[in-house]
Amino acid sequence: MSLSGKKILIAISGGIAAYKIHFLIRDFVKKGAKVQVIMTPDAEHFVTKLSISTLSKNPVYSDFYSHNGTWNSHVEMALWADVMVVAPCTAGTLSKMVHGLCDNLVIATYMSAKCPVFIAPAMDLDMYAHPSTTRNLELAESFGHHIIPAESGELASGLIGQGRMAEPETIAKSIEDFFDSETEKTLAGKTVLITAGPTYEAIDPVRFIGNHSSGKMGFSLAEQAAKRGAKVILISGPSAQKINNENVELHKVTSAKEMLSKVLEFYDTTDIGIASAAVADYAPKEIAKEKIKKNDENLTIELVKNPDILKTMGEKKTHQFLVGFALETQNEEENAKGKLEKKNLDMIVLNSLRDEGAGFKNDTNKIKIFTKTGKTEFDLKSKEEVAKDILDFVEEQLLK
Ligand code: C5P
Repeated sequence: MSLSGKKILIAISGGIAAYKIHFLIRDFVKKGAKVQVIMTPDAEHFVTKLSISTLSKNPVYSDFYSHNGTWNSHVEMALWADVMVVAPCTAGTLSKMVHGLCDNLVIATYMSAKCPVFIAPAMDLDMYAHPSTTRNLELAESFGHHIIPAESGELASGLIGQGRMAEPETIAKSIEDFFDSETEKTLAGKTVLITAGPTYEAIDPVRFIGNHSSGKMGFSLAEQAAKRGAKVILISGPSAQKINNENVELHKVTSAKEMLSKVLEFYDTTDIGIASAAVADYAPKEIAKEKIKKNDENLTIELVKNPDILKTMGEKKTHQFLVGFALETQNEEENAKGKLEKKNLDMIVLNSLRDEGAGFKNDTNKIKIFTKTGKTEFDLKSKEEVAKDILDFVEEQLLK
C-alpha cells in the first residue's frame, strides 16, 4: 500500500456512478490517505455531503461559500492535494475542465491545482462515443491528465455499452500505481530474498505444529523492495497475505525444510537476504501416515531440531547482506546482539512482545535495529512504514 499519508482531493460530478465513490473514499482512508471531497451542485442529487464527509472525515464543499458565510478556498484545497481525482466525471464537467468554463467550485479548484489530475469519465454510451467527448478526453490527456477509461456494461439508461465509470478498485489501483512509479528506484539491479510467515510442521495428514505469524512484515518488505526496483524472491510459509507486483516472485512453502531448500535455490544470486519468517524450531521426528487416533490418555511426539535457515545463509555468505529478525521476551537486546554474531548477520531487527502493538499479528510494529557497531530505535509505526525504515537502513549500510 503506497497511499499512507498521501493527500487525495476527490471531485464528484453529477452522475449515478457517484454512489460508488463511497467505496473509493473508504478504501483510500483505510490505506492511510488523507481525503478531501468537493462536489458539483448536481452531484448533491446523487450523494449526500453527510455520507461523504463521514467517510472522508472532512467537511465536503460544493459552493464557494458555506452557510455561515465562510469562504471555501478552492486555491487552498487545490494546493493541498498530492493528486486530484475527478470521479465520476460527467460529459459536462469534462467539457468545462478542458475549456476553462469556470462556473463552480470543482472547476475553480481544478484550475488552481498544480498536482496530477485523474479523470474517471462516466456517461451514457452515445455521449461517451460522441466526437466531442473523444476530443475533450484527448485535450485532457494533452494537458498531462491521466484518464481512467470508462468500462463496458449495463448503463443507468438500460442500454449496454461503454460509459460505466471504472470500478473503485480500478481507480484506486491507478492512483497507487502512480505513487509507486514516483518511488525512487534505489534498489534497481539488486535481488532481495525474503522469508516470511510461519512454517507448519506436519504431525500427521491433518495436524501440524505452527505459530501465530501472519507474514505481514515479510510481505510489506517484499512490496516496498519491489517498489524500489529490486527483484524480490519472497519465500513464504502458510500465510493469508497477498501480493501483486510484477517484481515479486512468490514461492509458497509449508515446512522449514522446504523453506531452506527454496532459499538455497536462490541464495547465490541474492544481494540482500532478509529472514522475517517465524520458522518452527522443532518438527516431529516422524510424520504419521494416518491420522493419529485419540486412544491413549497421553500422547508423546518426539521432536527434532529444524535447520536454522538464516544461520545456514550466514555460513554460506559470500557477498550477501544479511538481515535477521529477533522476537524476544527477555534479555531482548543481549539476545538480539548474540544472534547477530552467531548467525553472521549484518544487521538484526528486534521487536519485543512487551511493546504494545508490536510483533506477530498486528498491523503495527516497533523495532530496534542493531548492527555490529550501533543501535537505532524507531517509533511504533505501520508495518508498511517499518518496512520502509528497514530498507532505508539497509541502503545506508550498503553505501558505507
Ligand atoms: O533464533 P531465532 O529463531 O530467534 O532467530 C530469529 C531469526 O532467525 C529470524 O530472522 C528467523 O527468520 C531466522 N530463523 C531461521 N530459521 C530458523 C529459525 C530462525 O531462518 N530455524
